[in-house]
Amino acid sequence: MKIGIICAMKEEFELISKDIEIEKTIKKSNLEFLIGTLNEKNVVGVICGIGKVNAAICTQILISEFNCTYILNSGVAGGIDSKVNFKDVIIAKDLVQHDVDVRKFGYKLGEIPNIGTYSFKCEKKLLEIGEKICLEICKKNKNFNYHIGRIVTGDQFISNNELSKNLQKTFDALACEMESGSIAQTCYLNNIPFLIIRAISDTGGDVAENEFNNFLKESSKNSYIIIKNIIKNII
Ligand code: ADE
Repeated sequence: MKIGIICAMKEEFELISKDIEIEKTIKKSNLEFLIGTLNEKNVVGVICGIGKVNAAICTQILISEFNCTYILNSGVAGGIDSKVNFKDVIIAKDLVQHDVDVRKFGYKLGEIPNIGTYSFKCEKKLLEIGEKICLEICKKNKNFNYHIGRIVTGDQFISNNELSKNLQKTFDALACEMESGSIAQTCYLNNIPFLIIRAISDTGGDVAENEFNNFLKESSKNSYIIIKNIIKNII
C-alpha cells in the first residue's frame, strides 16, 4: 500500500508535511514529492498547486510514477450550503466539475462526455473510515461538526452570493473548491480509490476572500486531523 496525499496550498500541507518521516524528495513537473512514512504507512506527500490541471497532473504522477494505491486530498473549501459553517469538515461523497458545460450536445451541466459517470464517487471503505473518525471526534468535542455530501470543483474562486447559491441549488452541493473534481476524475480513470476531505474556510459569498484568509489555517488543521487519522486506520 502506498498513499498519495495531495494539498493545493502550502498552508494546507504544512501540518501533514511535519508528520511525514521523509526518506527522500523528488522533483517532477515542477512539483516536489515527499517520499516517506506516516504512521508507519508508505506515503508520498505533495503540494499540487491551485486548479484542476495542476491537480490532475499531480495525481497522475502519484499513480503512474510513484505507484500510489490510494489518493487522499486535504484542504479547505467554500461552504455553499447554508447548513455548513466555518471549520466544519466535509467528507466528499462525490465530486462534480461545475465548470464543465457540454449542454449543447445533450449532456447535463457538469457532465464530462463519454466518461461513463456524471459524478466521481469517493471509495466506500475510505468514506466509512472518515465518518467513524469524525463521529469519535464529535463525541469528545461538541464544537466539531462534519457533513457528508457533494463537493463541486471548477477553475474559479467563488466569491459571489448569487453564484454560490446557484451552485448549491444546481448541483445540490455542500462545498466548492478548485481541485478535487479533477483528482477524482484522474483516480476514476486509473481505477484508484480516493477520498476528499475539506474543511470550510469561507461561504463562497461576496466577502469570501476575507473569510478565506481568516480561516485558511484553522480549517486546514481540521482537515489535517481527519486525514492523519484516516491514514492511521487504512488497512
Ligand atoms: N477554496 C476555498 N474556498 C473556495 C471558494 N470560495 N471558491 C473556490 N475554491 C475555494
